[in-house]
Amino acid sequence: MALRIRVPAHIRSLTPYVPGKPVQEVERELGLTDTVKLASNENPFGPSPKALEAARNHLPSLHFYPEGGGFYLCQALGRHFGIGQDRVILGNGSVELIEIAARALLEPGANAVMSAGAFAMYRIATLAANAEAREVPMAGRTHDLSAMARAVDASTRMVLVANPNNPTGTYNPLSEVARLLEEVPSDVLVILDEAYKEFVDRRDYGTAQGLLERHPNLLVLGTFSKVYGLAGLRVGYGFGHPDLLALLHKVRSPFNTSSIAQVAAIAALGDQSFVKNYVAFNRVEMAYLCGRLAEMGFAFTPSVTNFVLVDLPGPAEDFYQKLLREGVIVRPMAMSGFPGSIRVTLHRREGNDRFLKALAKVCGKS
Ligand SMILES: Cc1ncc(COP(=O)(O)O)c(C=O)c1O
Repeated sequence: MALRIRVPAHIRSLTPYVPGKPVQEVERELGLTDTVKLASNENPFGPSPKALEAARNHLPSLHFYPEGGGFYLCQALGRHFGIGQDRVILGNGSVELIEIAARALLEPGANAVMSAGAFAMYRIATLAANAEAREVPMAGRTHDLSAMARAVDASTRMVLVANPNNPTGTYNPLSEVARLLEEVPSDVLVILDEAYKEFVDRRDYGTAQGLLERHPNLLVLGTFSKVYGLAGLRVGYGFGHPDLLALLHKVRSPFNTSSIAQVAAIAALGDQSFVKNYVAFNRVEMAYLCGRLAEMGFAFTPSVTNFVLVDLPGPAEDFYQKLLREGVIVRPMAMSGFPGSIRVTLHRREGNDRFLKALAKVCGKS
């Protein structure tokens, strides 16, 4: 029987987000073993042992509902980042906070301004709310924040900025972000999505957290999925004015972060040496991988994150499929407007070498 339920046109026409393929799925489909996943910007070292221990210790309490608002995690985040606990909100991954904001603010006739080459979920969350996704061309591979400010009109409810950006790995200096906030009217929400902030070591980069005091229309997002290695637990956070958070809480589901995610995240936050080691390691591997790519004659976008956008001599989807057959999972980036590029997450040296070798093979350079 065919499905006959009536679906609104804006949902029918939505193209869903395509996540990175899990290792097990690829191995099952292609009959491979020993596959390496470089597709979702995950931490190649796994979670901090302290987070694992906290999660394990929590198992006997799984019959209880979690703290609805995540009191202790908000407290820990507040302490760690030097911000009032009343200015912290949790999400089932930071992506849920984007969806919550879209649900709270968007409606037919309204628009959200974003960069054409930004994280694809901005567009999807906007279209799912039946609003217009107003995509502004990038300046090269970096957000053009002045053009984004100019794209704001009386129907704009949100401006979304990934800083650093996924999938380009580029960033905008804090001074540009501060200017954007001066230029965007104060009745428009500005979301600064800083999922990769911990990896950046540029003097002119900074979190927008310091701008919160001056701009109650600002929401700054962070996540435990990347540097903290807890992507599977789905926990992210937002910082904003208490009145803004009260608005978001209205459309947040009551237990949106699990109890186990909350305790693991608190422990992960307390293990900053784990974070430091990974960030330092990532920097070495970034220099190595980019050096090798340059030697091999590949063009790529210099990145301040834990991934690199590599340009290929043909449709990225084809190279993605060929790399899959070599047991290397990357991400073709047509979804974000880069049909000739793959995004590769840095791994440990062995994984990075596997990628380089497979890439050379599928491009006929080995
Ligand atoms: C820019 C950006 N924001 C948000 C997310 C979502 O992260 P989370 O796992 O916290 O939902 C990602 C994940 O890839 C991302 O790249």
